[in-house]
Amino acid sequence: MSGGNPVGPIAIRGLTLANNLAQAPLAGYSSLPFRLLVWRMGGPGLCATEMIAANSVRQGSPNQERYLAISPEEGPVQFQLWGANPEALAFATRVAVERGARAVDLNCGCPVRKVRAAGAGSKLMEDPPLVGRLVRAMRGSADLPLSVKIRIGPSPRLINAAEVARVAAGEGADWITVHGRHAGESYAAPIRYDEIRKVVEAVKVPVFGNGDVRDGATARKMFDQAGVAGAMVGRACLGAPWAFARIKAECAGGAYAPPTLPGIGRALLEHHDLLAELIGGDRAIRHCRKLGAFYSKAFAGARGFRGKLDLCRTRGDLAGLIAEHFRD
Ligand SMILES: Cc1cc2nc3c(=O)[nH]c(=O)nc-3n(C[C@H](O)[C@H](O)[C@H](O)COP(=O)(O)O)c2cc1C
Repeated sequence: MSGGNPVGPIAIRGLTLANNLAQAPLAGYSSLPFRLLVWRMGGPGLCATEMIAANSVRQGSPNQERYLAISPEEGPVQFQLWGANPEALAFATRVAVERGARAVDLNCGCPVRKVRAAGAGSKLMEDPPLVGRLVRAMRGSADLPLSVKIRIGPSPRLINAAEVARVAAGEGADWITVHGRHAGESYAAPIRYDEIRKVVEAVKVPVFGNGDVRDGATARKMFDQAGVAGAMVGRACLGAPWAFARIKAECAGGAYAPPTLPGIGRALLEHHDLLAELIGGDRAIRHCRKLGAFYSKAFAGARGFRGKLDLCRTRGDLAGLIAEHFRD
């Protein structure tokens, strides 16, 4: 694979993706506004929603609407569901289809205590037969591409991604995404490309590798060392919705010209405006205090910007602050 461009189209259960790069589910971030910017400025093959609680979807909680919102302007969107109840997951899969999902993923990697306490997320990896039952229930409720997103294992004592992947594929999962860390590890831990490769060798379905992919070199490393069919990218898109444009250009052997500072500022303001449409102006401004830290990560003087971000109350405040700091 070394030398050639590892990025190209891929077809999974009749769904053809323009390329084999996927945006990772990011709770608190990968809602419609974030994805619209990723589509417009980056161009992955697939985008994912935030993780959505299958139980809440089944209960019809109105506050789920902001997680379920998608737009016709988007390319293929994968809805990520979390839960441990087959009926709830089957129900939520049907709702996802009604809402326009082109693919559905079962979260088997979340390390958050609340999720694990519900028997879900990375806790599921401790019980591969349960993962099988959940996938079977989802498979029975919809004829669209299904995946599971797993870690290399639920803990350092149990590194069993290959086994979980085999069970999931045996019950009808069409592809597998592996984050190359176990669920007890922080993001500082190195990615275990060898463990991802074991999954690739264990199943016939495509495997996407995830973890620390942020540019052409790290994407190539994932493809070369893990032998995956695709790569999933998370944190590199935070504050940089153009990350996929960079990865594609660099994997094709070209150079990538990053946006100018005013261009970055415009992206942040656009992000705000899209958020305001979805969740209202007050919450959009509050969310931009977090987002601003990501959008300003690459430039000197960011600290002053971040300090003043907390004082923004209105769109006008934010626009003024951006104009002041995001200058050539
Ligand atoms: C803020 C944040 C939120 C996340 N939310 C989810 C989620 O909802 N579902 C999920 O499967 N993984 C979630 N993850 C994990 C990412 O999808 C991804 O597996 C991880 O960040 C490693 O990829 P990266 O190095 O490209 O960021 C989240 C990660 C971060 C940093």
